[in-house]
Amino acid sequence: MTERVLTGITTTGTPHLGNYVGAIRPSVEASRAPDVESFFFLADYHALIKCDDPARVERSRLEIAATWLAAGLDPQRVYFFRQSDLPETPELTWLLTCVTAKGLMNRAHAYKAATDVNLAAGKDVDADVTMGLYCYPILMAADILLFNAHRVPVGRDQVQHIEMARDIAQRFNHLYGRGRDLFVLPQAQIDEELATLPGLDGRKMSKSYDNIIPLFEGGPKALKEAVARIVTDSRLPGEPKDPDGTPLVTIYDAFATPEQRAEFRADLRAGLGWGDAKQRLVDLIESHIGPMRDRYAELMAHPERIEEILQDGARRARRIATPFLAELREAVGLRPMKALPVTAQPRRSEAAKPQLPVFKQYREADGQFYFKLTAANGTVLLQSRGFAEGREAGGWVKRLKTEGAAALAEAPVEIPAGVAREDVEAALGALVAASEE
Ligand code: TRP
Repeated sequence: MTERVLTGITTTGTPHLGNYVGAIRPSVEASRAPDVESFFFLADYHALIKCDDPARVERSRLEIAATWLAAGLDPQRVYFFRQSDLPETPELTWLLTCVTAKGLMNRAHAYKAATDVNLAAGKDVDADVTMGLYCYPILMAADILLFNAHRVPVGRDQVQHIEMARDIAQRFNHLYGRGRDLFVLPQAQIDEELATLPGLDGRKMSKSYDNIIPLFEGGPKALKEAVARIVTDSRLPGEPKDPDGTPLVTIYDAFATPEQRAEFRADLRAGLGWGDAKQRLVDLIESHIGPMRDRYAELMAHPERIEEILQDGARRARRIATPFLAELREAVGLRPMKALPVTAQPRRSEAAKPQLPVFKQYREADGQFYFKLTAANGTVLLQSRGFAEGREAGGWVKRLKTEGAAALAEAPVEIPAGVAREDVEAALGALVAASEE
């Protein structure tokens, strides 16, 4: 099976250079690797948790979609969609909400941060805390588990959410999997080296610190102005400079080849002025993002193209999500109405108990393991194919005994000619009922 990698992008802001280096560029590159299936989506339901300004959510969705496409994301190759275009996501959120311990949510960093602030301010612990914020990790778990993603590239601040998704998945598997894993347990993936790009002042680049370098917005002029504001020491041109520990060099590194990095450091040590160094940084960044900016402008001028790409992405994603959700509904008991197995009937006395069909496991001369289901009157109702391992045959017997007819479609068995499927289903139903008695 190919590995599935999935990331969501909360649509509340405009992507900046830090987002590009830390998330967009590595994700686009990784999506080109063979043997991975990549899922990228605009987490616009998550945006509603943080932001009640519709215009901002609308703008951000457009800008983020245009940015990812301009940065080279190939919507034919990956699944690129909006979270809110998948009705399966809120449906799964509810199924997961019902198995999530409240205590687990109490420990979520984002919720705790909010309550800490409230307590420090002498307010009620939950002042201004919405259920959206409180249940944020469950929605995120649904995003991930809906596609059974193996790997989730995220920032360090999101690692706890992935751990919670694992916890929730494990609990769901345990409760409803009947011995098999409905959900894959996802792994967080953090790229240590590039995880955070420093901002103008050396702290992590972030809108809330007002220290960002814009990616496309404002054009080359805005880029140049921002770089001019990067904090340096006051050494003059000609004085040797220490390249380490200045955000200028770290940002340069994020775009430079190893040779360019070495040369830049050597030139600074040899006295390159900060003004010239900044110009070199602008030129370097511009050489990478200039062509993308043109594509970005083109897309922003044609939102209908983006809309079409996202709708198509949602259609493709739902080809996976819709049948999977049907399976999950079945697993939790939300099933079409049908006649129930005989469990509901009053207990019969031991003596009156009808004879049950039996599974027999055996080995053939070919060395393979087999099993069959035989009715009390000796009719063979099911015949398995051969298995290399006895354990495998045993596993199927166990599933058929506990899940009954529900396991029939998947089980590697044949119903012999002349035997009615209803009779086999009834026999399995009787075994399930007996095991539950
Ligand atoms: N919460 C993530 C963030 O703020 C965004 C997100 C939503 C996400 N759903 C996800 C990330 C699923 C990875 C997987 O960055």
